[in-house]
Amino acid sequence: MIDHVRIFDTTLRDGEQAARINLNKSEKLQIARQLARLRVDVIEAGFPASSPGDFESVQAIAREIKGPIIAGLARTKAEDIKRAAEAVKDADHPRIHTFIATSPIHMEYKLKLDKKGVLAEVRSGVSLAKSFVDDVEFSAEDASRSEIQFLIEVFKTAIECGATTLNIPDTVGYAQPDEFYSFVKKIITEVNAPDNVIWSVHCHNDLGLGVANSLAAVRAGARQVECTINGLGERAGNASMEEVVMALETRSDQYPVKTLIDTTRLYSTSKLVAHLTGVMVQPNKAIVGINAFAHEAGIHQHGMLSNRETYEIMTPESVGAPSSDLVLGKHSGRHAFKDRVESMGYQLTKEEVETAFTYFKELCDKKKDVSDGDIEALILDRVLSFVPEKKYILKDYAVYVGTGSKPTASVTLTSDGDEHTEASVGNGPVDAAYNAMKKILGFTPQLKGFRIGATSERSDALGETRVILHHKEIQAQGRGTSTDVIESSIRAYVDAINRLYAAAAVREIKLNVDDSR
Ligand code: KIV
Ligand code: ZN
Repeated sequence: MIDHVRIFDTTLRDGEQAARINLNKSEKLQIARQLARLRVDVIEAGFPASSPGDFESVQAIAREIKGPIIAGLARTKAEDIKRAAEAVKDADHPRIHTFIATSPIHMEYKLKLDKKGVLAEVRSGVSLAKSFVDDVEFSAEDASRSEIQFLIEVFKTAIECGATTLNIPDTVGYAQPDEFYSFVKKIITEVNAPDNVIWSVHCHNDLGLGVANSLAAVRAGARQVECTINGLGERAGNASMEEVVMALETRSDQYPVKTLIDTTRLYSTSKLVAHLTGVMVQPNKAIVGINAFAHEAGIHQHGMLSNRETYEIMTPESVGAPSSDLVLGKHSGRHAFKDRVESMGYQLTKEEVETAFTYFKELCDKKKDVSDGDIEALILDRVLSFVPEKKYILKDYAVYVGTGSKPTASVTLTSDGDEHTEASVGNGPVDAAYNAMKKILGFTPQLKGFRIGATSERSDALGETRVILHHKEIQAQGRGTSTDVIESSIRAYVDAINRLYAAAAVREIKLNVDDSR
């Protein structure tokens, strides 16, 4: 019999926890819509008690996304569980995912609890979660470094209190595949759970073994794998969903199991997540890297021409990777444009498609061929309103650069209908423009990251800039695109500022008040 392996996506929770990733509600919704189309079984939408913003995002996803189970993470503390219950309650299939650490090091130094104390937490946390929802998942954090007999007792307790999914995390990515196989197998055998209980694993990638350990666990009987798109997650990340799914699919001779994933959407989902998080995928990344299906060596090309299977164990089509960088141009109609946008993983309303199409036509007047990267940039920057209220809008800018003269820039931003213009010098034109904008803001955010790229490999690509700004414990990432890299850099800065303001409003922080005195 072919068993179903559930795919539990935690891109929006563990993935978003990763350093420098900061998605807002609309971005999370956009990703959640795509995860539903990808047909994941569970979307872990966030950790509602961690911040008001996270709560709101989980609630919005629970209200809108139909199909997958929507999970909210919670420690075993009552206040966390109540927040999670409130956030997921409108979902068609709500789940509370509660956890506590079970390893000696976490119990002693983090929780300051002994075994009795942890068992009491498991009992109270799982029982409380069960009073709100039928579907309760329990995770034993740092399970792979826990004493196995204690872990077995913990899982038995969680089952008694109503948990129906039991998760065995390799929280610090320490396990080795053979060892993890035996560990998971022993737990499953000795706990001897009723048939309605699903065993799950959650493997981090600190030693690059997240996927290998997840697959070993599937062989041992796990029927839920927790993973993320592009392997995002804390530190070195989590097991990458696309790799787990394609390994199960391609080597079905080794794994008599099936996932429900529509593999042809893996590539577009990966791109969507990369664009929204700003964490680009390395070119040689398995399954979704741009080189994953490229065959450079002559001998390989020769083999491929005779029979693709000489060097190809799966087809690019099976993961939805385009066989070439297709371009649209000014003769492309609305339908072709809409199809392309959808195939890239974006779900736009009718009005958004219209707006995007208008910008697309404007872009066609500036450049002959418009690539997927250009369209993606245009949607992200001009169409999807990811920042609900924009504090500043770029109205105008001018730069002066030349040999022997100090680069100078003047920038005009509008805010609530008022125009603000300032000028400044700098090391270069971008620095000068940023200095001018700092004068307008009245405070100096720290520039934590700055990157300029291109939307495609073509010489007429749009310039795409990403900046990370930090101010008063808030970090925000902004992006901007333009045919001119100075403009894209200014746009990225303004976008990051608007995101800082949006995050500050949720946390009731005043950005331009000096509270150091
Ligand atoms: O890595 C981990 O242990 C986790 C748990 C909360 C499941 O993320
Ligand atoms: Zn984790």
